[in-house]
Amino acid sequence: MPQDNIEEIKQKIDIVDLLQEYIQMKPAGTNNFKALCPFHHEKTPSFMVSKDKQIWHCFGCGEGGDIFGFIIKMEGMEFPEALRHLAKKAGVELQYQDPSVNNQKTKLLDIIKAAAQFYHKILLDHPKAKFVRDYLSQRGVTEDSISNWQIGFAPHGQDTLNKYLVQKGFAEGDIFLSGLTLKKDRGTGYLDRFRNRLMFPISDVHGNPIGFGGRWLGDEKDVAKYINSPQTLVYNKSNTLYGLDKAKQEIRMLKQAVVVEGYMDCLASHQAGVTNVVASSGTALTENQVRLLKRFTTNLVFAFDQDLAGDAAAKRGIELAWQVDMSTKVILLPDNIKDPDELIKSHPQDWPKVIKKAQSVMEYYFDSTLANMDLHQVEDKKNIAKILLPVITKLADPIEQTHYLQKLSGLLQVNEDVLRDKIKQLSPSSKKLETSEQVSREGTVVKNRFVSIAENLVGIAMTNPQHLNYISAHVLPEHIPDDKLKQLYKSVVIYYTKKQDFDYKTFIKSITDADSSLATYADVLSMKTEQDINNIDGETLKQEVIKGVIELKRRFIQERLKEIEVKIRQAEEQGHKDKVEEFSQRFAELTSELHQVS
Ligand code: UTP
Ligand code: MN
Repeated sequence: MPQDNIEEIKQKIDIVDLLQEYIQMKPAGTNNFKALCPFHHEKTPSFMVSKDKQIWHCFGCGEGGDIFGFIIKMEGMEFPEALRHLAKKAGVELQYQDPSVNNQKTKLLDIIKAAAQFYHKILLDHPKAKFVRDYLSQRGVTEDSISNWQIGFAPHGQDTLNKYLVQKGFAEGDIFLSGLTLKKDRGTGYLDRFRNRLMFPISDVHGNPIGFGGRWLGDEKDVAKYINSPQTLVYNKSNTLYGLDKAKQEIRMLKQAVVVEGYMDCLASHQAGVTNVVASSGTALTENQVRLLKRFTTNLVFAFDQDLAGDAAAKRGIELAWQVDMSTKVILLPDNIKDPDELIKSHPQDWPKVIKKAQSVMEYYFDSTLANMDLHQVEDKKNIAKILLPVITKLADPIEQTHYLQKLSGLLQVNEDVLRDKIKQLSPSSKKLETSEQVSREGTVVKNRFVSIAENLVGIAMTNPQHLNYISAHVLPEHIPDDKLKQLYKSVVIYYTKKQDFDYKTFIKSITDADSSLATYADVLSMKTEQDINNIDGETLKQEVIKGVIELKRRFIQERLKEIEVKIRQAEEQGHKDKVEEFSQRFAELTSELHQVS
């Protein structure tokens, strides 16, 4: 029984110490602590921790338990992972023969860990990896960094890793599910996913490797520079930040997190001694990543590449941070410096300085908007106002708002009152356009983003029927995340299929008799859509449709994945090995489907 382990761990980890890593606690009486509950939103603390009982309980939401219960809830872990996590913290060796310590997730974690060690060893020792060692040293990556970050090299053989892992006793099916191999197109068997690539293990917040980024070292244009692990049971790109396990202490201490784009930027910064840095891994920051960072600090600094993609990523990050009440600044790199890595390599002493000099979000918006505009051109002036006014309206503080309105008015040589009028005109829709996830200040989602996307699509289908063919071919009713909307969409598709044409008025007539509230809903929705797409040209609208379709499909698959995860867990608890197998397989299939949607 792991019971002994559990008791031992509980003796070694004090609940107050543990919870301190996650929440701010204040003493309340001799033996108790009080805090704002991390599991529901509240303004006065009702979350209590008892040092002598070693338990926690929230009198607001009713949740409670011991250290295990806390970790399970806080980290979204299942018991076996929580046990492993706390055992590691406590320095307790687990009795592994107990099957309950090994679930599907921990099995995959073991495989990925073994793979990371394998790649690392090859990089360090193998004669054929000499060119990789040279490459790293030429880029200034030290031996310490190579070891700290467990950087590795994936050999070029077809299935070197797979063979190695099989020989270590792992099952090929599980290796596949950990994302490290691909199924052969023809015949049976597996191929290594990563071949001939520099390997960056990606760890979860506790330092367990959960996936990889593999960099190609040649400069062929037709080879992907990086390939990354696919989504697996243990790895989800949008919930992960590269380097967070190594940066989290310093982020908490300095009350600030610096977000860079690339693995190399992150590593170089840590190597240069600036360790409150994580990498978003190229894509725009996701809401989950922002929330993950919020566990450690509410101050973010973005240091994205000085190009359009970097600018877009910064703006998206600012939006998200805003929505969850975090403050953001943006780093401007010196001219002709492409990314932090380049700066750190040429002027290491300047890196902490540019972080310190990070601009406020508003300064950044002004500078990056004005950069390519000509203040003497009327069209440019209009564009500047169009970009900056919606941002200014979002400032909660009227003094701040006025300050920037005055600044803009001075720049454009346009009276401040004219700008204020303009704000009134564009107010509601501009807020909507910029804000992809409508989250209230309490952090609760007012309207699900995907419902908005789906509403948008159905609205476009009804008002611009030239898109109906495409939409109806790609969006199934089950992709629509809202029942009423689903019903409306079904009616649209049925009508369209029957008539091979779409006339809005006769459509409305046809549904009014059956369900008048549905007709009203359709009217309101198409009215809103007409407003929203009023100024959008045909091509942009088409792109928006395509993007919306993809987002809905992806969400649909993600939801299925979550369901299957639950099923796998249930099957594990009931000891149905074959079911676990079957669902894991289904999980992998859906994941590759997800991969194809984009
Ligand atoms: P960069 O191209 O800036 O890469 O992409 P880098 O990490 O700075 O690498 P070097 O300096 O050229 O060696 C930034 C990040 O975007 C992701 C990776 O996470 C990368 O670190 N990315 C980039 C991909 O996932 N796939 C790609 O094909 C390219
Ligand atoms: Mn780079």
